[in-house]
Order: sequence, then structure tokens, then C-alpha cells
Amino acid sequence: MSGILDKKRFTVTAALPYANGPLHIGHIAGAYLPADIFVRFLRQKGKDVAFFCGSDEHGAAITIRAKKEGIAPQEIIDKYHTMIKSTFERFGIDFDMYHRTSAPNHHELSKEFFTDLYEKGEFIEKTVDQFYDEEYHQFLADRYVVGTCPVCSYDHAYGDQCEKCGSSLNPTDLIDPKSVLSGKKPVLKSTSHWYLPLDKYQPWLEDWLLKGKKDTWKVNVYGQCSSWLKAGLQPRAMTRDLDWGVDVPLKNAKGKKLYVWLDAPIGYISSAQQWAKEKGADWELYWKKQANEADNSCLIHFIGKDNIVFHCIIFPAILNAHGGYLLPENVPANEFLNLEGNKLSTSRNWAVWLHEYLDDFPGKEDVLRYVLAANMPETKDSEFTWKDFKDRNNNELVAILGNFVNRVLVLTQKYFEGKIPERGNLAAADQEVLQRLGQYPDEIGAAIASFKFRDALFRFIDLARMGNKYLADEEPWKKIKTDPERVGTILNIALQVAGASVVLGAPFLPGYSKKLGDILSIDDLSWEHANGDILTSGHQLKEPVLLFEKVEEEVIEAQINKLMKTKNTEMDEEEKGDSIKPVATFDDFVKLDLRVGKILEAQKVPKSKKLLQLSVSLGFENRTILSGIAEHFSPEDVVGQSVVVVANLAPRKIMGIPSEGMILMAEGGEGKLRFIAPQEGANPGDAIS
Ligand code: 2FM
Ligand code: ZN
Repeated sequence: MSGILDKKRFTVTAALPYANGPLHIGHIAGAYLPADIFVRFLRQKGKDVAFFCGSDEHGAAITIRAKKEGIAPQEIIDKYHTMIKSTFERFGIDFDMYHRTSAPNHHELSKEFFTDLYEKGEFIEKTVDQFYDEEYHQFLADRYVVGTCPVCSYDHAYGDQCEKCGSSLNPTDLIDPKSVLSGKKPVLKSTSHWYLPLDKYQPWLEDWLLKGKKDTWKVNVYGQCSSWLKAGLQPRAMTRDLDWGVDVPLKNAKGKKLYVWLDAPIGYISSAQQWAKEKGADWELYWKKQANEADNSCLIHFIGKDNIVFHCIIFPAILNAHGGYLLPENVPANEFLNLEGNKLSTSRNWAVWLHEYLDDFPGKEDVLRYVLAANMPETKDSEFTWKDFKDRNNNELVAILGNFVNRVLVLTQKYFEGKIPERGNLAAADQEVLQRLGQYPDEIGAAIASFKFRDALFRFIDLARMGNKYLADEEPWKKIKTDPERVGTILNIALQVAGASVVLGAPFLPGYSKKLGDILSIDDLSWEHANGDILTSGHQLKEPVLLFEKVEEEVIEAQINKLMKTKNTEMDEEEKGDSIKPVATFDDFVKLDLRVGKILEAQKVPKSKKLLQLSVSLGFENRTILSGIAEHFSPEDVVGQSVVVVANLAPRKIMGIPSEGMILMAEGGEGKLRFIAPQEGANPGDAIS
């Protein structure tokens, strides 16, 4: 198995979420679920693991949100810290400590780090010109300035980063910068700050990271780091002119706070300190280099791709400059999860909020864990759709795993009164299943230990697939009358497979493992127990319970409708206006197949205010298209209308009706919709180019 499993002790962290909004599925798929799967697995392997997280309560993310909600930053962090913490608990993310960066020990530790580096002469003090809002009398760092991205022309880029193209920016890079406070163009004003000379650490980073991590870090993470290093690191300011955050612990620094990205990762360590204090443990065992290198804990940071530079370059440079601390062994960052074709966005409310999921799908935490693990953006961005949620639940959890386990439990009840039957002579098929079963723990374990969670999950479901096939091939229901002994052997082996699934499924589906473990009386989830002897014959099983149930079409339609409401209101609002969308290449444009169409029939969609169901002729075929025009046109107005149709748009179901294209409309500033009609003489099916 993978080298990482030679280590005895692990310190696992998951990105501290900003306490400025609720958690959504993108957060979970990006950092918390992979971390939780990894931690649960390590515990089952008997490792000493400590798992730390907490709320990130400083920086512009908090103060801007406070301003938006018209309340004090303290109220914002209290509100969202409480909400995020309880959502994690409800969802079953198994942190040892969920702390917060407003805690006194965090402020103290962050100041200690700054002072240590300051006293070692690591910082450079510089006076620079920065944007300043004259109306609010405030310097505008990071997200306090928005403007047009110089790289991709996105018009809502932040002063520190463009969320559209991912470029890292300085506020002064933005085209047409505006203050988020007054909305006005800022002026430049001089101010002093303490900079970390990342350029000075470049040779050390090249050695530690580029040479040392090439073979073990994920390609996406290593690639991003090597581009940063290739471009050449620049000094980075570690302080800000703000009134919210950790004070800069220097006499001449009135009104200055630590840069949030200096104090946030220190939050992992202050979380460990708090845990140690509450549990009577020694936090230094998990964070400091030990006298004997073999006793060092293995530090792993789980994050999303927008946090790579901070965890792989800046924080290690700080830890190294401070000395005494462990450096990350690995930073298995994920890419982003998209939702129904769009980027997840807190500000645009384009999200599946975790607390709402938990309310809408009580007892179905495992289903979301399963679907997010199966679609985890491990190597590239991936997509969550409600259709996929339903399909994976119905076709995999219910039809493969649930069906297998249910069959074997029900047959054992029926033929052996729920007692695990004896295993007799083994046929070739039995030996094959047992031999294969013996390989799964190492295979699944190796995949988890190398951060290939999708692969690990695929192998786990394959175990259930094998169990199903075994039952289908051996047909115990046909043999019970003539050869009950053989049926006993078959069910004994099938039960061992079900038993192994309790152990091997526990990192992904803890609820399933608990329920089935209870029926089978498996309470020790040690990884090595997942073999062909996990259950003893003669043992009385409990009555089966429903492990997974079908998700019906209406249930996911309701979720899609909830999202569509957002699309029709908040997203449209933001996208309206005169600003041109970011540049599309010629290749982007020619992907669209635009055709002349003619509306043949139209009707209202029941229970929808906005939608008309249209039958549209494209000459060579007729299409059903749902169009959000019902508030502007009645069905009889539009029959006979010539239109422009996007003919190769991926079909999608809206309110249960498949829509096979899109009608293009012009939207006036007053919100009125008008058809775009081809000139007289154009025929349905004519290509538009
Ligand atoms: O991007 C974010 O949401 C940050 N709050 C992550 C911080 S991770 C760590 F450094 F604390
Ligand atoms: Zn950009």
C-alpha cells in the first residue's frame, strides 16, 4: 500500500470556511468530504489522527458581508459560525475540533508568529500607494475594490482575484476600479506595510516543493505551484489598513491588522491548541517536529483550488521561516464543482445549501456523500445535477448496494430464521468471491491513501455488484428445496460480502455502515476485519431495515424549480445591464447551431407562471421547447411566430417536461421580451451563421 500509510500519526486540516454565509455542496465536495473520508479511513486503519477546522472570521469577506447585511462584523461571524458548525455536525463531518479565528488563543498565536518573523528580520517594511475611498476614509485592500479583470475582461473581478478566470490580481491591476463601499473610483494614497519577501524563499520552495513533491502531489496542485514559481515570487504584504482582524503586534502599527491569509492557516494550529486544552492532549505532537523524524505527524491540508498558493507556497514559507513546525506532506486540493451548468455562487444564490438539503432530505446524508464523492472534482471541474443525484441513488445505492444487502438479509431470515448459516464445501464460484473479497480492502485503501476518492468509491460499489452477481448466478432460491446445505454456504459467503461492506463503506457512507453494522452486530470497523470471516455462523441477525429508498422525479423537480427561481430573479438581475459578457472565442461561437424555427403550437405549463410549452418546427423535425415567456405572451399570441432556435443545446427536463432547445429573445431595459424574427422568406431549419 501507499507510503503514507507507514506513518503512525496524522494531522488533517480542512480549509477554514469564511463565516460569511452558509455551506453549499461545492464546499463539501471540495474539501470537507474528501478530508472526512480520509480521516475515517485512517481511524479504521488504527492511526492516531487529529482533524482540525474552524471558522475564518477575518478579512474583507466578513466586513463586506456585514456591510451588506447592515450589521456589525461580530454579529455576522456569530451568526454564520454557529450555523456552519451545526451544519457540519448534522452532516456528520467528524472534526476533532471546530474552532474560530476570533478566539483569544488564535489572536495570541497569530501575533506570536508575526513577532517571531519580525524579530528575525524576515519582513520588509515598504511605503506604497494603495487605493483609498475618500468618502469612507478607508484604504481598499483585496475585495474592497472591484473592476474589470485585465486577463479575461470579467467585469466583477475582485482586487485580489478574478473568480471567473482564477487570476491572482493586485487592486491596481483592475481596469475601471470601483470601491465596494461608495461605488466610486478610488484615489491612490500612500501607506506602509510589512511584506513577506517570497522571492527570498524561492530557492527553498523550489527545493522543497518542485523537487520534493513532484511524485506525490496531484498534478493539478503541483502544476499550479510550478507556474507560480516559474513566474517568480514577489514580496507580499502581510498587513492591512482595516479595523477588523488580528492587531499587528508592533508599537508603530496603529490601525493595522494582519492580512487574513497570514492568520487563517494559523487557525489550524490554534484549533489544535483548543482541542488539546479541552481533551488534555499535547497539540505539539501534531504540529511540531519531533526529536526523531520517524515520530513526526503527517500533515495533510484539504482545500479547494483557489487556496493552493496560500497552502503550498505562502504558509509553508511562513512555517519554515518560523522553524520548529511541520510542513505539509501533501495538499490534495480539488478543483471546483459546478451546479446544473453554472458556477456555484454564494452571492448569486446559485447553490444547493447544505442546511436546506438536510431539511429537505432528512436521513439522507449518505446519499449526498455518495453523489458528491462519485462526482468529486479531483482532477478537473465537475458537475452536480439533480438528475444525476436521482440516477445514482436509484441505480447505484438502491439497485446495486441496497438490493444486494436486502436480498441476502431477507433470504437468511426466510431460510434460516435470521441465523448465519454454516459454510460447507466451497465451490469454485465461492472461492473466487472469497478471493476477490480479500483484495478489496487493499485496493480501496490504496485509492483513499492516494486521494483517489472516486476510484475508491467505484471499487466499493463494485464489491456490491460482485455480491449481486454471485446471488444471481448461484440462485439460492432455486436450490433451497433440494440442497439447503448449499444455500447455507451461498448465504454465508454473501453475508461476508455484506459484512465487509460495513467496514469498507464506512468512510463514504457512515450512516449505512451504522445501520447494517447494527443488523449484523459489527461494531469494530477495523479495516483488516473486512475479509471473508467477518461474521460467525450461528449468529442471530436483527430484522432488516430499509437502507436506501428511491428518489422520485417530483422530488428533484422541486429542487430544480427552486434553482430556476434563483436563475429567473437573482442571476438575471446581476447579468442584466449594459456590460458585455466576457470575450467568447470564435471556437466558442461556432459550437452553437442556430436555426430558423416556427412555433406550431403553444400551451401553458401547469403550475408554472413563467413557462410556455412550445412545439417548434425546424423544417426537418419538430421540437418541444420550454420557454420562460408566459408572463409576456399568451399561447395564442405566439403560434405562427418565426423564431431563432439554439438547436444543439443539451436537452433538459424542466418540471418533468423535456425541453429540446432554446428560443432567443431580446430583452429591453424595461424588462419587456421581444422575439427575434428572421426576415420574411427564411424557412424553418435554415442555418444562422
Ligand atoms: O477560501 C476560503 O474560504 C478561506 N476562508 C479558506 C481559509 S483556509 C485556511 F487557511 F484557513
Ligand atoms: Zn479574469
